[in-house]
Amino acid sequence: MQPAESAAESAELKSCCASLYQSDFARTLLGDSFHPGGVQLTARLGDLTGLRSDFRVLDVASGKGESALFLARQFGCQVTGVDFGPENVREANDRAGAVQVAHLVSFVEGDAERLDFSDASFDAVICECAFCTFPDKRAAASEFARVLRPGGGIGLSDLTRSGPLPADLEGLLAWIACIADARPVEEYAGYLAGAGFDVTTVEPHNNALAEMARDVQGRLLGLELMVKLKKLDLPNTDFEQAKRFARAAAKAIQEGLLGYSLIVGQVGAENGCS
Ligand SMILES: C[S@@+](CC[C@H](N)C(=O)[O-])C[C@H]1O[C@@H](n2cnc3c(N)ncnc32)[C@H](O)[C@@H]1O
Repeated sequence: MQPAESAAESAELKSCCASLYQSDFARTLLGDSFHPGGVQLTARLGDLTGLRSDFRVLDVASGKGESALFLARQFGCQVTGVDFGPENVREANDRAGAVQVAHLVSFVEGDAERLDFSDASFDAVICECAFCTFPDKRAAASEFARVLRPGGGIGLSDLTRSGPLPADLEGLLAWIACIADARPVEEYAGYLAGAGFDVTTVEPHNNALAEMARDVQGRLLGLELMVKLKKLDLPNTDFEQAKRFARAAAKAIQEGLLGYSLIVGQVGAENGCS
């Protein structure tokens, strides 16, 4: 599948991605944290980005809120999560209401490429395992810069790819699984630099991705067995396709074609609010 060319295609990709990550299937397969390394890598990203208790943090593509809740607990900062999926946002707000840091965290629906926040309204932006799914990466990067105060920090983590991928890893599933439009890490850094960020750290965490792929393969087998035993109902799930896809992804990770990296920077003083 080629990068989205029209506004309609782009809207469809965002909705498909949000729908998958709102589904019970995704939760069963991935748990609450929808990125490699779970909250341990979120903690690392928060440390590298220099989060502090007096910070206002925006978590872009916040999923079910796991990272935002964790960051509020870990760093004592205020976190606003924004996600394209209304069901994700509802669930995340329900979860936030039930925890000790409820006063620090809230979630709203929105699009990373057109953030509905004022210029310079945050001290840091976090975006985990989602930038590669945004059809217009340049727009998203410039929105990150716009909503940050001068000197504000960006902490991005994402899937990286270092070359063409096999046919089994193409199509809509690949897009949604963040693979189809994953880019070399230098390209992500380039988008950030183009939006006015000084990229200060790039840290590979390919092992976290390999571990996630192994977990997903194991859980897929478990789910298939449960469905066969009629202990679980997952209509419209093509297990053969999912297993083929997971196998091809694991191989691509092993061969170094797919990886996972943290990218951290700061928005330049004159670019924070253009
Ligand atoms: C792989 S999940 C990552 C979720 C979360 N950051 C985490 O690590 O647990 C990708 C998320 O991106 C969201 N998303 C996709 N396109 C988006 C967009 N244009 N704006 C905001 N959120 C988007 C999806 O709804 C989904 O929750």
